[in-house]
Amino acid sequence: MDQHLRNDQLSEALERAEADYIARTPQSQAWQERASGGLPGGNTRTVLHFAPYPLRFVSAKDQWLTDADGHKYRDYLGEYSAGLFGHTCAPIMAAAQKAITDGTVLGGPNTYEVELAELVCARFPALELVRFTNSGTEANMMALGAARAHTGRDKIMVFAGGYHGGVLYIADYAARSNAPFDFVTGTYNDLEATLAAAAGVEDEIAAILVEPMMGGGGAIVADTSFLAGLKDFADQHGIVLIFDEVMTSRNGPGGHQVETGITPHMSTFGKYLGGGFSFGAFGGQREIMRRFDPYEPDALPHAGTFNNNVTSMAAGLTGMRDIYTAERAAAHTERGNRLRSKLNEVIARHGLAAQVTGAGTIMCFHFHGETVRTPEDTKLTRPEAYALFHLEMLKRGIYFARRGYVSLSLELTDEDDAALLAAFDEVLAEHGEKLCP
Ligand SMILES: Cc1ncc(COP(=O)(O)O)c(C=O)c1O
Repeated sequence: MDQHLRNDQLSEALERAEADYIARTPQSQAWQERASGGLPGGNTRTVLHFAPYPLRFVSAKDQWLTDADGHKYRDYLGEYSAGLFGHTCAPIMAAAQKAITDGTVLGGPNTYEVELAELVCARFPALELVRFTNSGTEANMMALGAARAHTGRDKIMVFAGGYHGGVLYIADYAARSNAPFDFVTGTYNDLEATLAAAAGVEDEIAAILVEPMMGGGGAIVADTSFLAGLKDFADQHGIVLIFDEVMTSRNGPGGHQVETGITPHMSTFGKYLGGGFSFGAFGGQREIMRRFDPYEPDALPHAGTFNNNVTSMAAGLTGMRDIYTAERAAAHTERGNRLRSKLNEVIARHGLAAQVTGAGTIMCFHFHGETVRTPEDTKLTRPEAYALFHLEMLKRGIYFARRGYVSLSLELTDEDDAALLAAFDEVLAEHGEKLCP
């Protein structure tokens, strides 16, 4: 089919899908209008916005979300990977409730944080010592601070299109809301171009901050050889290599660092590790982390009123100790790999140039057939295609991110996966040709 005709058909189908969405979600629309009175664009978390307006949720149970109009959705967003345990996991709820009942805002160290620290240090090879924060963003900020203090250098190597938090988004444009680090920007999955970007300033770089799989950037897995090359380069020049495992640490029994066998000097965490409550963690080699030891005369400060809040500590501890054991993590990762294969089989049956990328339980839809190695490659899917696909899947009761991002919770069942596959099959049958260029 002629490309212009396809584009026209895509625009028309999107218009119809939006009209249908508006007709089905009057309460979400009303809430959006009201929200716009107090929140810019009705929004307090950019990544949750989509046109014409997002669904407004009122409750959730297990794997189900309920919107303000009473529609139920199978939750395939999984709160961008923080929702690993689902919405109402009984042991997590009990742990959080006990922590609350026993009293919050203690203003002193508690017992939960000790065991949680022991657990995460035992699970993730990079961690000799760890510290907790309120978010992944904070964890990355603190890890970068630690690396700068440790090396006495200022430059930070990052990768185009990478995401490390609200103030650490390595976008095409230099948002002034970003943390004002002196960034050296490499190219993901391209060691040669990355080393070229660092040429001449190798010994001024404090840290390399890299996601072993870009999550928000499109579920793009790094080649192991690329990560190994970064490790060699970091070792050669006294640079601190930091794996941002805020998303990927759920994959496999010890995160991506175990899957690849590459142990970075530091690593950061967040999301599900707080059991579904606000959480972040950074840690690494003892000689770097001991700088935070308050017994040391030259200790680095790391405050944070809620760093060890009892709800996150207790829920996170129960989640890691009793539910997401190393064995469960391995099995869940395998389950994700199987589902991704099945989604790709559906695409193949329709003979379309599309793909689902990712690793384990984090994945992303792409509506083109080119290999996806950098966030630049994700731009080959037209925004209108993502919008149409998203609205059509919502209509079928499947919720995930507008940009095609999916993460799997432990609550999702085979029946949910069957519903996802059936919806995907239907949408490709009806719109596949329009979605793919
Ligand atoms: C890889 C990565 N790093 C850091 C962050 C920031 O975490 P938080 O949203 O908890 O600040 C995110 C969040 O999506 C992330 O995906």
